[in-house]
Amino acid sequence: MKTQGALLWEPGTNSGWSIEEIEIDPPKRREVMVKLAASGICHSDNHFDDGVIPLEWAPILGGHEGAGVITEIGPEVEDLEVGDHVVLAFLPSCGHCDMCVAGKSNMCVLGAGILGGTAPDGTHRVHARGQGVGCASFLGTFAPYVCAPVDAVIKIGKDIPLDKAALIGCGVPTGWGSSVYAADMQLGDTVVVVGIGGVGINAVQGAVLKGARDIIAIDPVPFKQRKAKEFGATHVVSSHQEAAPIVEQLTNGQGADRVIVTVGVMTGDLLEAAQALTRRGGVTVLTSAAPILQRDVQIDLFTFAMSGKRLQGSLYGTTNARNDVPLICDLYRSGKLKLDELITRTYQLEEINQAFSDMKEGKNLRGVIVYD
Ligand SMILES: NC(=O)c1ccc[n+]([C@@H]2O[C@H](COP(=O)([O-])OP(=O)(O)OC[C@H]3O[C@@H](n4cnc5c(N)ncnc54)[C@H](O)[C@@H]3O)[C@@H](O)[C@H]2O)c1
Ligand SMILES: [Zn+2]
Ligand SMILES: [Zn+2]
Repeated sequence: MKTQGALLWEPGTNSGWSIEEIEIDPPKRREVMVKLAASGICHSDNHFDDGVIPLEWAPILGGHEGAGVITEIGPEVEDLEVGDHVVLAFLPSCGHCDMCVAGKSNMCVLGAGILGGTAPDGTHRVHARGQGVGCASFLGTFAPYVCAPVDAVIKIGKDIPLDKAALIGCGVPTGWGSSVYAADMQLGDTVVVVGIGGVGINAVQGAVLKGARDIIAIDPVPFKQRKAKEFGATHVVSSHQEAAPIVEQLTNGQGADRVIVTVGVMTGDLLEAAQALTRRGGVTVLTSAAPILQRDVQIDLFTFAMSGKRLQGSLYGTTNARNDVPLICDLYRSGKLKLDELITRTYQLEEINQAFSDMKEGKNLRGVIVYD
C-alpha cells in the first residue's frame, strides 16, 4: 500500500524527518499489518538523527512506540486475527530462545537485529524513492500502517484506548520496569530518578507502585518537576547537587537505595554523580542511551567495590513484554498506573519535526502522533 512516512535520509546530521510517500508490502510469513492509532515520540528516535546511535544505512523509517488494530494477516500466523487490538513492542521476543525461556525476553536473540536496517528475514517491507527502507525496531511507527513481525505484536483488551496504549510499546515498560525489575525496588526505599521524560516519569510510577518511601526527581525543567510531583515524587530538584543534601537528610547520611538514570543523553559524568547518590549496597540503574562510541567514565572504583554497590543496565526495563504489557493494561484499568496523563500534546505526522523540537526543549512529558 502507498502511504506517508517520516524518513531520515542522512542519519547523524540533525537534518530532521522528511515526510514522503512510502510503499509498504503486504505481510509475509509470521507478519501482520497494523493500522496505527498513535505513535509516541521517544528520545531514542532522535538518537538516529543526532548520531548518538549511529546508523550505517539509510533511509530509516522512524518510530517504535505504537498501538493499533490488525487489518491483515500473513501466512503461518497463529493466535492473532483481523480486528485484534495490539501493542507493538520495540523489542521482539521469539518465546523459544534460551533467554526467552529463562524469562528474560528483553534479551531475546531477535533484539540484536532491531537496528539492522531490514526485516528479520533480511529483506525490506518498506520502500521509498525506489529503494528499500529500514524500519526502527522492525516497526517504523512514523507511518499510519506497520507491517510487523508477530514476535513484536502483543494483543490487548479492546477497552484500553489505543492512542494511550501506544506508550506501552516503549516508554511505559522501560521506565516502570527500570524501577520495578531492574532496580529491584523494595518497600520503603528512598529512590532518585534522574531525568523526567517519557521514560523517567514511568520510573516514578514504578517507584510509587513498589511502595518507595521517598522519591526524589531530578530535572532542570520546572514543567517536568511539576509533573513528577503530580505522579508521586515526594521531592523535586534541578540537579544532583541540589538532590545530595536532601538525600542525605532523608537517609541519615546513607544515600539512596536506588538511583535510576533516565536523562535524554547519557554522559560519563552523570554516572559518577548517580553513584555518589547511591547508598552502600544500593543499585544504580542506567536506562539512558549514551553516544555509542563514548568510553569516558570516571568512577571512584575503591568506594564502588568496598561499598558493595551495583551498577545495573536496563533494556526495556528488564520486562518480559508478553507478561508485562497485559499487566500494565491491568494496572491502568484499576487506576494504579496513569497513561492518559503521560500525553502532553498530540501532533499530526506532518508536525513531527515540531514534536521532536518540543521534546528536546522539555515541553512534553510525552508527545504523540495521532493517526485518523
Ligand atoms: N534502555 C532502554 O531500553 C531505553 C528505551 C527507551 C528509551 N531509552 C533512553 O532513555 C532516555 C530517556 O528517553 P525519554 O524518551 O524519556 O527522553 P526525554 O527527552 O523525554 O526525557 C529526558 C529528560 O531528561 C532531562 N535531563 C536532561 N539532562 C539532565 C540532567 N543532567 N539531569 C537531570 N535531567 C536531565 C530532560 O530535561 C528531559 O526531561 C533516552 O536516552 C532514550 O534513548 C532507553
Ligand atoms: Zn523508545
Ligand atoms: Zn527469544
